[in-house]
Amino acid sequence: MANLAVTVNGRKYVAEIEPRLLLVHFLRDVVKLTGTHIGCVVGRCGACTVLWKNKPVKSCMVLAIETDGSEIMTIEGLSPNDRLHPLQEAFLAADAVECGYCTPGMVMAAYGLLQKNPAASEDDIKRAISGNLCRCTGYVNIVKAIRSVVVAGKSQGA
Ligand code: FES
Ligand code: FES
Repeated sequence: MANLAVTVNGRKYVAEIEPRLLLVHFLRDVVKLTGTHIGCVVGRCGACTVLWKNKPVKSCMVLAIETDGSEIMTIEGLSPNDRLHPLQEAFLAADAVECGYCTPGMVMAAYGLLQKNPAASEDDIKRAISGNLCRCTGYVNIVKAIRSVVVAGKSQGA
């Protein structure tokens, strides 16, 4: 067993974990934040995307213990006080959500991009979500939703 101390969405968590525990399982099963989804568990689908040290990562590709002493942000961290983030509002407005399975990962990938590049172009957006699969929407409305946040000048969020 190994000791882990990590900050998730601004709150500190200390836990004794198996060294082989994946970050996605730590977030869902230990911290009980189930907004981060599990799809392939081999780094292909992006459903498990979170921000680690302010960068989007696939949390099935990171051991929880690697994050010791650092900061993680999950989809729950985007909407404290139950107020949707402009990106989430934009996904709803642009019909960019169908089954919703990919949505938390898509939103976190987009959030990571807009933090770094608030004026992201359509090509930047396509590149940023290129590791996130959606089986439902065909991507057009997802790109439109993210771009609408840029155009509205709300990239830095609420
Ligand atoms: S569950 Fe992590 S990339 Fe698919
Ligand atoms: S909305 Fe269903 S997988 Fe993307």
